[in-house]
Amino acid sequence: MAQRTSLHGQWSSRLVFILAVTGSAVGLGNFWRFPYIAGENGGGAFVLVYLACVFAIALPIMIAEVLLGRRGRRNPITTMRVLGEEEAGQPGWRIVGILGICAGLLILSFYSVIAGWAFAYALKAASGAFVALDSRSVAALFHLHTRSWIVLGAWHTAFMVMTVAVVARGVERGLERAVQVIMPLLLVLILVLVGHAIHTGTFLRGAAFVLRPDFAALTPEGALIALGHAFFSLSLGMGVLMAYGAYLPQDTSIGGTTIIVALADTAIGLLAALAVFPIVFSHGINPAEGPGLAFETLPLAFSEMRAGVFTATVFFVLLTMAAWTAAIGLLEPAVAWLCETREMTRPRAAIGVGTVVWLVGFLTIFSFNLLQHLRFWRGTLYANLDYFAINILLPISGLAITLFAGWVMCDNSRVQELESPSGYRLWRFLTRFVAPVGVTLLLINAGAQLLRH
Ligand code: PHE
Repeated sequence: MAQRTSLHGQWSSRLVFILAVTGSAVGLGNFWRFPYIAGENGGGAFVLVYLACVFAIALPIMIAEVLLGRRGRRNPITTMRVLGEEEAGQPGWRIVGILGICAGLLILSFYSVIAGWAFAYALKAASGAFVALDSRSVAALFHLHTRSWIVLGAWHTAFMVMTVAVVARGVERGLERAVQVIMPLLLVLILVLVGHAIHTGTFLRGAAFVLRPDFAALTPEGALIALGHAFFSLSLGMGVLMAYGAYLPQDTSIGGTTIIVALADTAIGLLAALAVFPIVFSHGINPAEGPGLAFETLPLAFSEMRAGVFTATVFFVLLTMAAWTAAIGLLEPAVAWLCETREMTRPRAAIGVGTVVWLVGFLTIFSFNLLQHLRFWRGTLYANLDYFAINILLPISGLAITLFAGWVMCDNSRVQELESPSGYRLWRFLTRFVAPVGVTLLLINAGAQLLRH
């Protein structure tokens, strides 16, 4: 087969690819979900199960997605159509690309609202707004920010503009430059926070909460939480890895590179836990997850800390940066699709997709104010969007990817992309048998929850 080339250029080095994929993987999930679910479900025992889920299920799917992207060298929709046709005479596989892109854009719509909120809190923190607050004034601050759709909307707009601005510049001038600056900064900031947490006096208690293995607290439900989080945290099933894989040079090892990303993402989740929980415990507050942790629990802890202004600012800048590189990845696949199939320029495509996502984001914004009383199934509109995209759309798309790569693609095509023979056989086994079973369990669990409501 003649080698295809991407219309958007290539990553200029393997390191940049690692930074970009890690940038997409490290996001809000690492900071406000991983530490909490690890602490609640058996600490070190959960971390072990999480690692098993990452290596036995998530990583094989990640490899599959990057492999398909590099083989097709187009946006996820065209890639799945071309490969479906080539491997099985079934262009209908393009539905997998469509599903992934739609799920990704839906996620971006609420991700951006939360990230904009973090951005606002970074500026608030720097201006000293979190000094000497009690829990009532933290709640008032939270309320002040969420009560007005205009305030939430303005910060959501700012964050979407930041994201569109990077994607509009293209792979080399936009994506690469952004991750090269942001990712090292992220690492420094998180190390600063951990260094700071070591001095809180409750460091060991925080570390024990997340790391001490408590096998009794680990339930089958906890194992499914681990698997679901591995999916979200490694950005599987949303076209991001396929789009990024399309820009990967042919001679770069996919297996070796993705293993580094999986390890880096888990390490950042653990570091986030070591940074966050000592701070929370040092103030006798109960741990929490999600917006409650970031925008209520932590500000309260920061406000009582020495050097609280500094720590709070570092934390919210970190959260914004991490969300930024993740959001860039969520926008890229749809933009690549418009450029390739509608012959649009990148800036136009990025602004077009960005505008649609921006508008959909208002559904999330209204869930905090105008529509806060509209509750069904999982809660507010935002809670439902979040659950539907992450727990239903993602596993469906992940399952389709693993089935295509494991069963539909012929051996010859796969071998051309994965060079090590023993690694190849292990990957094929995991992709054919282990990953589909794991993802099916996730889907059954999500379906059962649906019925229970
Ligand atoms: N992996 C990101 C996180 O943990 C979220 C994300 C999902 C980003 C999918 C891009 C694509 O926050």
